[in-house]
Amino acid sequence: MKKNIIPQTYQISVAERRKANNHNSFLLWFTGLSGSGKSTIANLVELELHKQGIKTYTLDGDNVRKGLNNDLTFSHQDRTENIRRIAETANLMIDAGIVVLAAFVSPYKKDRENIKNIVKDVNFVEVYVNTSVEECERRDVKGLYKKARAGEIKNMTGISAPYEAPDNPDIEIHTEAITVVNAAKKIIDYITPKLKLNNE
Ligand code: ADX
Repeated sequence: MKKNIIPQTYQISVAERRKANNHNSFLLWFTGLSGSGKSTIANLVELELHKQGIKTYTLDGDNVRKGLNNDLTFSHQDRTENIRRIAETANLMIDAGIVVLAAFVSPYKKDRENIKNIVKDVNFVEVYVNTSVEECERRDVKGLYKKARAGEIKNMTGISAPYEAPDNPDIEIHTEAITVVNAAKKIIDYITPKLKLNNE
C-alpha cells in the first residue's frame, strides 16, 4: 500500500510555526527505571518552560499506555512498538512547533537509537535519569517492585527484564545525589541555547 501513498505538501512550514512561537521545537527524552523520577523531573521542567511562555507537551508512559498504546504489553516487541509510536507522535508535535517532553522507561538502546532516526538527531535530547534499582525498589511509589518480587508482574524492568543504560546521554541526573529542583535547573540550563531560533 505504501507505494500508493503520495505525501502532501502544506504551505505552513515548521520554520514558520517556530517563528510564530518564537522558540525552537525539539524532543526532550527521559529514560530510566520505573520510579527513577522521570515524570517528577519532566513535570518540573515543563512547569518552568510554561512559565517562560514556551509551548510544551508531555508524553508519559503511564498515561499513553491508557490511551493510544492501550493495546501494548511489556514484552520486548511491544515496548519497541510503544517507543516507535511515541517517537512518531513526538515528531508530529515537533513539526507543530512544540517542545515535547517524553518520560518512558525505554530500556532498549536500539529503540532509543530509532527515536533519533525518526525525529532527527538535531531534535533529540536524551536525559538519563540514573537511579539505582535498589533505590527505585526502596521508594516503590507504585508498589510494582513488590509485585514483581512476588511474581505477580512479569518482565519488570530492573528485576526480570533488562535496562540498557545510555552510554553517552546528553544529560545524566543522579537522583540520589541531586534534588529534583537542581535536576530541573540542570536540564533548563542545557536546553536554553537550544530553544533560541536559528535562522532557518
Ligand atoms: S516502556 O518500557 O515501554 O518504555 P513505559 O514507560 O511505557 O515502558 O511504561 C512504564 C510504566 O508502566 C512504569 O512506570 C510502571 O508504572 C508501569 N509498568 C507496569 N508493568 C511494568 C513492567 N513490567 N516494567 C516496567 N514498567 C511497568
